[in-house]
Amino acid sequence: MRTVLITGAAGFIGSAMVRLLRAERPDWRLVSLDRLHGVGGSTANLEGTGGEGHRLVRGDIADEALVRELFEAEAIDTVLHLAAETHVDRSIAGPGAFVRSNVLGTWVLLEAARQVWAGDRATRFHQVSTDEVFGDRGQDSNVAHEDSAFAPRSPYAASKASADHLVRSYQHTWGLPVSFSWSCNNLGPRQHPEKLVPFCILRALSGQDLPLYGDGRQIRRWLHVEDHCRAILAVLEAPGQGLGYAVGPLDGTENLDLVRRLCSLLDLRRPAAAPHAARICHVADRPGHDRVYHTAADRIRAELGWEPRYNLDQALEQTLDWYLENPDWLARVGRGEDFRRWVEAWYAGRGGAG
Ligand code: DAU
Repeated sequence: MRTVLITGAAGFIGSAMVRLLRAERPDWRLVSLDRLHGVGGSTANLEGTGGEGHRLVRGDIADEALVRELFEAEAIDTVLHLAAETHVDRSIAGPGAFVRSNVLGTWVLLEAARQVWAGDRATRFHQVSTDEVFGDRGQDSNVAHEDSAFAPRSPYAASKASADHLVRSYQHTWGLPVSFSWSCNNLGPRQHPEKLVPFCILRALSGQDLPLYGDGRQIRRWLHVEDHCRAILAVLEAPGQGLGYAVGPLDGTENLDLVRRLCSLLDLRRPAAAPHAARICHVADRPGHDRVYHTAADRIRAELGWEPRYNLDQALEQTLDWYLENPDWLARVGRGEDFRRWVEAWYAGRGGAG
């Protein structure tokens, strides 16, 4: 039995985490904290998760008074810290918000945990992080491991690495019980369409081209969001502290290959618009675009017995079908128009045809 503060609970990964815990840990009390006006966070994502044992609080992780009050009033003993600004392109367009939420916001949570938990060992602060903190592994796929040095290269990755360093420092200095997970790219339902997979799905469905940055040969590892959340739960429940696990599939995929696979699925679902791959085009590269992320995720398999349930094709298919079955989702999250404007401006700046 735990009382869990889930930050960023109304976002893509946060809401999947809430769903998993409501289904599989029904006796845990959940306090969901989300700004609800940040990118991706919407009550629409939490539909069906309400009821006894789940409280949704609208608020900012950087609000010291609110966070402190929640820790005390709700007797929080566990933090699942998922709140973050997450899009690399946005961090290039405006890094300030990333420093504020990802660095300052994490510090506010850590301070509340340090002060309110006051050395109580039956607590846990779990930091949800990213393989991007280990930096570009290069064409030779120089594999990173959990104890490799951080080498972030985008403002986003640097803000997450900074947050991870802060979490580690609270463990070493005050003995705060912490754990980490470093995930690869996620896909699945309810992902904000600034990210590659939903971006391509929505553009393909509206007859637009599918812009790949540069040569499209960048390598990412792709994981269904439910598999990511199962990994977080496994790490959270593992005994010990200071644990950190990379999370992801063993194989990487080039962006071009990923989008082609998606196009094949689109051809099956929307044959009249086939071949969707004819819409793939190449546009100016993202500044400082990392070629390869590769953090070996064998420790979590060996020590915790975690394995993804979805392979890449299954994950793509389930994701595509969700967007096809939920055509009103963009309108319900309330940012359809804003987002389209933002993307068009960004895309024009990248040299795309729009
Ligand atoms: O590696 C984990 C990270 O994955 C997470 O920590 C980040 O929060 C998440 O944003 C993601 O970062 P990426 O930059 O890899 O994700 P994104 O979906 O933006 O892009 C995936 C790849 O596709 C990347 O190489 C850039 C490329 N791309 C993306 C978009 C949106 C394109 O070629 N064209 C596009 O239009």
